[in-house]
Amino acid sequence: MSGVAVVTGAAGGIGSATVRQLTADGMTVVALDLDADAASAVSPQSYALDVSNADAVDDVMGRILAQFGRIDVLVNNAGITGSQEATTAHATPVDEFDKVMAVNVRGPFLCSRAVLPSMMEAGSGHIITIASAAAIVAFPARFAYTTSKGAALQLARSIAVDYARYGIRSNAICPGMVETPMTQWRLDQPELRARMEAQIPMGRVANPDEIADAVSVLASGRLGYANGSAIVIDGGWTSL
Ligand SMILES: NC(=O)c1ccc[n+]([C@@H]2O[C@H](COP(=O)([O-])OP(=O)(O)OC[C@H]3O[C@@H](n4cnc5c(N)ncnc54)[C@H](O)[C@@H]3O)[C@@H](O)[C@H]2O)c1
Repeated sequence: MSGVAVVTGAAGGIGSATVRQLTADGMTVVALDLDADAASAVSPQSYALDVSNADAVDDVMGRILAQFGRIDVLVNNAGITGSQEATTAHATPVDEFDKVMAVNVRGPFLCSRAVLPSMMEAGSGHIITIASAAAIVAFPARFAYTTSKGAALQLARSIAVDYARYGIRSNAICPGMVETPMTQWRLDQPELRARMEAQIPMGRVANPDEIADAVSVLASGRLGYANGSAIVIDGGWTSL
């Protein structure tokens, strides 16, 4: 598999697993993250980027296009859950809501917006957005995160509808609970972990590589008729 892939939030659990997998698949992978040092540790091609900063997104995507001539796959992976104050709707501080939406929705919008013209010119491209099971079912007392992931899924579907005519596909992956720095604080508490795993038919949380596998299959061009799909990888959690 050849081509150029760009992964946001590349220094995190799912992001770094995705960079490793797509690199092993033979792609040239550009790693983008707020944390510049961590991004450069996962790929020789990396940039520091806050996905919610419109000028910075345009600048970095422009540099990548100037360097490699094309972006075949964009993985919108950067995401945050919000602080522990971001619970139910009436209790969520407005600035927490804005922060979560800025990274989880505005980020994929800005990154997609920046790469789509070059994909249209090439007549091909694939945007893969890491949404969440929270796009399918509401996570209790995680209002901002649930709202943002529902929007991220619809963002992926809207792009799928508008750009198929240009040879561009857009799909979302909706992981259940994955063991990463995002979830570690919960999974490190044995009681919480046991309660969480008891709700999953497969009886365990996912390893980040199991989500990277889904990205890899989509990026490979297999599942070639998938467009606007919500690919749920959750051990059966949302089927309960
Ligand atoms: N871990 C899970 O259980 C789980 C489940 C479903 C969906 N997801 C989604 O998967 C994606 C990756 O999650 P993860 O678990 O690997 O999280 P993580 O916290 O391990 O990694 C997230 C990465 O995103 C980066 N990041 C944060 N804000 C950014 C910004 N503004 N610009 C650029 N980079 C930024 C962080 O520096 C970090 O490296 C997220 O979108 C998350 O919502 C995670």
